[in-house]
Amino acid sequence: MASRGAFLVAMASSSSSSAYSGARVSGRSALSLATASYCPTTSSIRSSSSSSVSAVLRGRSSSISMAFANIHNGRSMLASSSGSVSVGSFTTSTSMDRSSFSSSSSSTRMQTALLSSTSSSTEETTSSSSSTTTTTSSTPSPRRVKTASAQASDELVSIKGWVRTVRRQKTVAFVEVNDGSSLGGIQCVLPLEGVDDATMEEINELTTGCSVHAIGKIIESQGGKQSVELSATSLRIIGSCPGETYPLAKKRHSLEYLRTIAHLRPRTNTISAVARVRSTLAGSIHAFFQKEGFNYVQTPLITASDCEGAGEMFRVTTLEIDDVEKLPRAKDEEGNMQAGVDYGSDFFGKAAFLTVSGQLGGETHACALGDVYTFGPTFRAENSQTARHLAEFWMVEPEMAFADLTSAMDNAESMLKFVVSTALEKCDEDLTFFGNFFDKGLKDRLHKLVNVPFVRLPYRDAIKYLQEEIAKDPSKWQFPEVEFGTDLATEHERWLAETKFESAVFVYNYPKKIKAFYMRDNDDDGGDTVNAMDLLVPGVGELVGGSQREERLDVLVEKMKELDLNIDDYWWYLDLRRFGSVPHAGYGLGFERLVTYVCGIENIRDAIAFPRYPGNAEF
Ligand code: 4AD
Repeated sequence: MASRGAFLVAMASSSSSSAYSGARVSGRSALSLATASYCPTTSSIRSSSSSSVSAVLRGRSSSISMAFANIHNGRSMLASSSGSVSVGSFTTSTSMDRSSFSSSSSSTRMQTALLSSTSSSTEETTSSSSSTTTTTSSTPSPRRVKTASAQASDELVSIKGWVRTVRRQKTVAFVEVNDGSSLGGIQCVLPLEGVDDATMEEINELTTGCSVHAIGKIIESQGGKQSVELSATSLRIIGSCPGETYPLAKKRHSLEYLRTIAHLRPRTNTISAVARVRSTLAGSIHAFFQKEGFNYVQTPLITASDCEGAGEMFRVTTLEIDDVEKLPRAKDEEGNMQAGVDYGSDFFGKAAFLTVSGQLGGETHACALGDVYTFGPTFRAENSQTARHLAEFWMVEPEMAFADLTSAMDNAESMLKFVVSTALEKCDEDLTFFGNFFDKGLKDRLHKLVNVPFVRLPYRDAIKYLQEEIAKDPSKWQFPEVEFGTDLATEHERWLAETKFESAVFVYNYPKKIKAFYMRDNDDDGGDTVNAMDLLVPGVGELVGGSQREERLDVLVEKMKELDLNIDDYWWYLDLRRFGSVPHAGYGLGFERLVTYVCGIENIRDAIAFPRYPGNAEF
């Protein structure tokens, strides 16, 4: 049952009576948008006064009223906000999860051990401790460095991360620690003679997946695998990890298996590399539009308009859909019951949905600010189980006033060249990994995208090329019937980009009848086509879809009537054409498709943290 006041999201496909749709609406799969809660079973807290002091609190962390440093299963180190160590206050914190605190003596032992390994900072410790009455001894923790930027130096530093592998030899232990900032992490080398007793104990307990804090010096690596390593003098387990139950304990896992543990898969090489590349791409998309003077607009996720007119929207409602008897029924003007629900009594006073695109809202701002872009989640209730479709995906949607289709293609091409070259520059390690394990020609393909102008091909020519090719051997094609009016299938799109042109290809001037209502009619083409474009890229197919918008009020109204759209629902959109209308154009880039393209991975479900698709909303 939905809790009172929660929004429910139901699939509102054009065929709402379908078995699939019905199951989603009436079953437990309806989503409550209002129940997101924060469950801090594990929290990471950083001291405001010192970047070197951090805390990992487990259990009921909300009951803690002081600033701690490191607390883990029975081994603790803590510091006041001034950076001094306060063992006394630690023992009084009885309300915390007992497992986090075995005894104050063990905490003292660890602290002592860490102090002995950080003698260079003892002087600083003494001066800071004098200002805190409860302090018995103190030291600033060595500066924490991320493995991505670790460089050899004489400084004592901290490394914090998760253990990937442990190798114990007679005189030395090698612990590979990954902190997520780089693919390779860092190898911590612990000479067994040179470490304290507590570290020796910890080394014996280390397993794959443990979180650890190691202290030592970054030195040039002795082995050939990586350039630097940590010559560690101390190591502590922050969180243990039982090997028998840890789902990532074994070495190699299929991507299919990893999708079933999406909460842990960012700890793998592949998914962490995807996450880093994704983050870099997102940052460079913003950088591109900001440098070009575009304003970033956040358009609503809840909407009453179906931008693409495909009827593939998730409905948002607070109606008691679990109790059909209680649903308010639609009535005609005489008050007679009609089929269907009266959404007038729903939360928004009308039927509402999750948006399939931010474009219509984007147009309002382009027609005031000039150039804008949106970058946010969009939702489509398509029953697609393909490697290119998600039910929730992110879209980048620039919209430009005083612009035509050519401007939109030019902008999309410059943007893609910019973001891909940024990824090549900033994500070299991760892209090399993808090149080695997923797509041998990856970097060449990406360099080509950056350096070679995109092909621009009228739709009619695309059809001609496809017909010629298919005629050679129709049996090779799943959809051999291709003619003017055909909505190109992925196999057609990929053939054009991968085989015919071996390049990114804009196909433009599509038949009007297969495109959305807002696209501008081509006056010089007998009214059969619209100013629309799709960008097709090797490996993915359609990456971008865009158009010049119909800015003429009378033409737009006529088109909407032809498509049976309710003009009244779009009054505000039509106002843009009533008041100071301008030619304008824009496009939508499917962000996860870009991630799959740049990483050379095959399935879009691996390009987003928690994929949503028919039958799956886990995590
Ligand atoms: O071509 P589409 O449907 O265009 C629009 O939504 C326009 N309103 C955009 C605009 O002009 N502002 O979608 C744009 C892109 C596609 O080219 C594709 O990359 C991606 O969004 N896309 C999807 N990505 C993942 N899963 C899905 N179900 C997708 N549907 C579209």
